[in-house]
Order: sequence, then C-alpha cells, then structure tokens
Amino acid sequence: MADERSTTTRDEVADWWATSISRIEPGVIELRGHPVQELIGSAGFGSVIWLMLRGDLPSPEQTALMEAALVASVDHGPHAPSIAVARMTATCGVGLNSAVANGINLLGDVHGGAGQQCVELLTEICAEVPAGDATDEQVLGVAAEVVARWQQRSRYLPGFGHRFHPVDPRRDPLLGLVDVAVDNEVVGGQYLRAARAVEIVLNRGRSTPIPMNVDAATAVIYAELGFPAPLARGLFVLARAVGVLTHAWEETQQGRRIKGPIPPSIRPTFLDPGDEAAGAHAPTES
Ligand SMILES: CC(C)(COP(=O)(O)OP(=O)(O)OC[C@H]1O[C@@H](n2cnc3c(N)ncnc32)[C@H](O)[C@@H]1OP(=O)(O)O)[C@@H](O)C(=O)NCCC(=O)NCCS
Repeated sequence: MADERSTTTRDEVADWWATSISRIEPGVIELRGHPVQELIGSAGFGSVIWLMLRGDLPSPEQTALMEAALVASVDHGPHAPSIAVARMTATCGVGLNSAVANGINLLGDVHGGAGQQCVELLTEICAEVPAGDATDEQVLGVAAEVVARWQQRSRYLPGFGHRFHPVDPRRDPLLGLVDVAVDNEVVGGQYLRAARAVEIVLNRGRSTPIPMNVDAATAVIYAELGFPAPLARGLFVLARAVGVLTHAWEETQQGRRIKGPIPPSIRPTFLDPGDEAAGAHAPTES
C-alpha cells in the first residue's frame, strides 16, 4: 500500500500556502494584484495597510479616518505596560526585535486590545436596533439591554474608562472626525450612535464619568470602516508598535543595563504570610 507521503502531488504542496494576498514569482511582487513597483511612491503606508487587509485600495477619506485612529494609538508613555516592558526588554541585551515583540505581546483585553470586544459590543447593539430610522430612545433602549447582558459577565465594558484620564484626550477629536465622515457619507454612523448610547447608559446616575477611551473611539472608526472585530485589535497593535519601537530605541541609546520596573532603591512591599494585615496590601482586580 502506497505511503501517504508518496501520493502528495506537486499541486497539493503548492496549495499548502495558497494565498490571495501576494503573488511572488521571479521578478514579480504583486500585493493584492498590484505590482509593488506601482505602489512604491504612489500609495501611502496607510493605504497599503488597507489594501493588504481588505484587498482593495481605500478612498482618500477612508484612509484619513483609518490613519487618524492609527495616529491616536501610537504611544501612551512608559506608564503603559506595553511601553514599559519594551523599554525594560531593551536593557537586557536581547535586541530591538525582542523588545518590540514583548511590548506588543502585552496588548490584550484590558490594555490596548479592548477595541476588538468593543466592536463586538457595538455590532450586537446595531444588530438589535429596529430596522429603519430608529429613534435615539430606541437605540438607548437597546444599548441598555445589551450593556446589562455584557455586565452580567464583567462590570467592565470594553473601551470605556481610563486609569489616567478623566476624559481620554483622544476621544473627542476621533469622534469629531467620524461625525464629519458621517456628514460626508463616507461612513454610515450606526456604530458611532451605538457607542454614544453605551456611554450615556454607562454614566447614568454616576458622579464620576466613565467615558469612551481610545479603544472605543478607534473601535468606532474601524467598525464604521467595515473592519471585522479582531482587526480592531490588530490595527491597534500595528499602531502601538510605533511607540514600542521608539521607546525601546530611546532606552537602548540611554545605555542602561537590566532596568527593572522600579528603581532598586525602592523595595517592593514584602507580604509576611504570618501577618494578618498582609491581605490589606494584596492587589484587588486590575
Ligand atoms: C482601563 C481600566 C482598567 C481603568 O480602570 P480604573 O481606573 O482602575 O477603574 P476602577 O476599576 O477603579 O473603576 C472605577 C469605577 O469605574 C467603573 N468602571 C471603570 N471602567 C469601567 C468600564 N469599562 N465599564 C464599566 N464600569 C467601569 C468601575 O466599575 C468603578 O465603579 P464604582 O466606582 O461604581 O465602583 C478600566 O476602565 C477597564 O478595565 N476598562 C475596560 C478595558 C479597556 O477599555 N481598556 C483600555 C484602556 S485605554
């Protein structure tokens, strides 16, 4: 009986990495059907990100909106875990590539990656909004129901709240650009409306507001532009890689070796297992 390996055909091997993204032949590099030599010098980096992910070139208006979201996400300084870890890694002798990888590996549901769940949240609301011209009251009603459902799983809604900023300074300019894009019929505006409704619902009866953060504001943009939810996180990762690389490079140039999270003169609190008061220091949820 023939060994399975011997029946593998040349076509099966070629199909193993079948892709509609790039065609590479001797002397040929095509990205989504566009010869790379035509893209070089004519297409901006943002347009090529779109082309690679979507298969077509965006309009200038779509590019501008997507790039605004990318620009908003590039950096949040060394307080951001993604940046701090990249900087610490850069002092350990492992090279820039490891520093960048470690930095972006921290981006998840709570830090930087919440855009993915936020798109899912907004999509759920949009799917339940009555067809036709829904009133603000109807959208608010649906948002309240969906928020209640989500909060049965976790009281933290993705894309809302910020540890540093009472109002995330990236929120208003991003939402303002979406408003303009809606007016110019570049995008439909349903996700923006849903996000604003969630914000209203979430802040009912609160004295300290929980406004949209960068993850929600960029999630609105990515959803309005038609990106699937996981790509909201993917695009955030792409954007934050810029800040992660820049900080890792700066740290490299400063020449420090083995930088820890706090100066060595400050010792982390030791929790004595025999000390009943130790529990008071234990971290709660973060
Ligand atoms: C970013 C985050 C960790 C900051 O948390 P924090 O400032 O430490 O806030 P706390 O956990 O102390 O919460 C303070 C209050 O705001 C509420 N809150 C904070 N973020 C909330 C959210 N996303 N959804 C609902 N309620 C939220 C808390 O329930 C708490 O309410 P209380 O005063 O009634 O007890 C938190 O807002 C969060 O997890 N957000 C969702 C994930 C996200 O979007 N991450 C991206 C951050 S840029």
